[in-house]
Amino acid sequence: MKVINEIDITGKRVFIRCDFNVPMDENGNITDDNRIRAALPTIQYAIDNKAKVILASHLGRPKGKRNPKYSLKPVAKRLATILGKPVLFIEDFENPEDKAKLEALKDGDVALLENLRFWEGEEKNSKEFALKLKELFDVYVNDAFGVCHRKHASVYALAEISEIAAIGFLLKKELEYFDKIFTIEEKPFVAVIGGAKISGKLDCLLNLLNRADKIIIGGAQAFTFLRALGYKTGNSLVEEELIDEAKRVMDEAGRKGVKLYLPVDFVCSTSPEDESGYVIKPYQEIPKGMMGLDIGPASIELFREVLSDAKVVVWNGPMGVFEVKAFAHGTNRIAQIIGSLNALKVVGGGDTADAVERAGESDNMSYISTGGGASLKLLEGKTLPAVEVLEKKQ
Ligand code: 3PG
Repeated sequence: MKVINEIDITGKRVFIRCDFNVPMDENGNITDDNRIRAALPTIQYAIDNKAKVILASHLGRPKGKRNPKYSLKPVAKRLATILGKPVLFIEDFENPEDKAKLEALKDGDVALLENLRFWEGEEKNSKEFALKLKELFDVYVNDAFGVCHRKHASVYALAEISEIAAIGFLLKKELEYFDKIFTIEEKPFVAVIGGAKISGKLDCLLNLLNRADKIIIGGAQAFTFLRALGYKTGNSLVEEELIDEAKRVMDEAGRKGVKLYLPVDFVCSTSPEDESGYVIKPYQEIPKGMMGLDIGPASIELFREVLSDAKVVVWNGPMGVFEVKAFAHGTNRIAQIIGSLNALKVVGGGDTADAVERAGESDNMSYISTGGGASLKLLEGKTLPAVEVLEKKQ
């Protein structure tokens, strides 16, 4: 795929699809602007090369309707502060006045369109909607890694119909890191897979069995594995219908010689809200009426030992309910342990990126992906539709 610096953009109207789907509080204040900052190299490059820059993104899931809660206005404001220049906010790119404003952009100017998901056509991958967007620009650039697993108009239909199309520096970097994970020869390769549900991680686990030397399983999904091994897990979250799948993962791991590690103790309480009444118990002794909400000290020590000789680490999913202080220790310690390793350390986006940030370990990772669902798809060994469409074109 062509990268933005391999095409002529000077004086051209360049549409850059970004993923500005950032978390906001109830007052519309951005609480984490990492995704905006991650898009800066491409945006700055386009400005420096005198393109007329038209940015677009989605935010949240407004379901095809205008909703002020999901407006990108705060993003335009933050972007203007970071760039140190005005960012023209375009509420409705179909409105003639707004269209005229876009046409009047000068070289090096920047505009941001309102949330693309305010239009029904975006999530429907509508060609008609894509054609309307196409009228606005000469060059199409996709730098929105986080949404590349979706077949939506701005990343799929629009890419398909754009004569000149390229990827941005962020998308390039994301794809390179995930490619590296699967091609680097250094060993051992340790995958740390956490999160609440095995259902979301099953394909990822099965694919990693072809690649990893060791897999650490944390988070509530560990309880489905423990049940598969015949243990009682109290009130812990278990996906009963996936107990057989958990067995299958363990069997496959055995056949493929991949070492699988489960937590050996848990921080248990009656509910995530009950922060004071917790007890630490070995995996065989989770009390009736209680649930495991974090990995315990013995598990942390075991996982530290497992990770100690790792040369490649991929981490996706927290070890417990890390949003609650009493149950965040396991996730924080794993972040610190991975952070201290002399290895290639790649962290999946979403919750895991958030957990690493909270633990203050972001600077100690080789790469933190900006995409949750998109990075998981790559770990599953699948291709991303929005990337595929650009590859096909070129
Ligand atoms: C994300 O936050 O993972 C991306 O921005 C995609 O958002 P979506 O899951 O609402 O499509």
